[in-house]
Amino acid sequence: MNKSYISAEIVKAVFLLLIAVFFTSCDRNRNSTGWDYFPDMFYSTAYETFSKNPNFKDGLTMRVPVTGSVPRDFTPFNFTIDPESRMLAGKELKNPESPTAGSLSRGKAVYSAFCTGCHGDKGEGDGNLFTSGLYPLKPRNLTGSAAENLKDGEIFHSITLGFGSMGAHGSQIRTEDRWKVVLHIRELQVKVKETSSAGGIGK
Ligand code: HEC
Repeated sequence: MNKSYISAEIVKAVFLLLIAVFFTSCDRNRNSTGWDYFPDMFYSTAYETFSKNPNFKDGLTMRVPVTGSVPRDFTPFNFTIDPESRMLAGKELKNPESPTAGSLSRGKAVYSAFCTGCHGDKGEGDGNLFTSGLYPLKPRNLTGSAAENLKDGEIFHSITLGFGSMGAHGSQIRTEDRWKVVLHIRELQVKVKETSSAGGIGK
């Protein structure tokens, strides 16, 4: 009897407390962030990226990299889009990627994503975009003797900066992946030769 009397009092107290919390937890305009309860590491002792910084003359915390800085693993590419520069790229650049199973399959995947639409699965310049008439310009055949004679660096140059009416892909495909696409194009060239020397069997 005594027990249940106490618990009824507790229930009442909790109920009143809940009502009090309910009415006090809302503010008029939602601008109050409330009280800090155990702020711990909420406030940084270090300067925040965009906060004012009295240690520098310009007051900025985020610093501009020193002139001439390059990101890690960055390879400079000092070529321009003209044909002379492409020839130079052909002479100076060597493909740093070797045709391992991994890089060949990566090259194929990147090629399928970025090039197949125009140049076709086999690289013969017969991609769906062109054959369907959506894209009016004939993409080059990337197989056959003319393309075989292109240097690795020339193909890399064309992918990076574009070629004639073809757009540049340098900003969309990572450097190493562009080289892997070159490996894949070489693989396509060998495959086309094999099928043609076999008298077209399997085509
Ligand atoms: C929107 C269609 C399109 C896409 C996408 C495209 N190309 Fe091309 N590509 C062309 C056309 C068209 C030409 C010929 C341009 C000209 O002659 O003015 C060309 C030319 C080239 C050449 C020069 C060939 C030569 O004989 O010198 C290379 C190499 C090449 N493309 C590779 C690629 C690779 C690799 C990709 C994918 C990363 C790619 N292209 C994506 C349409 C495309």
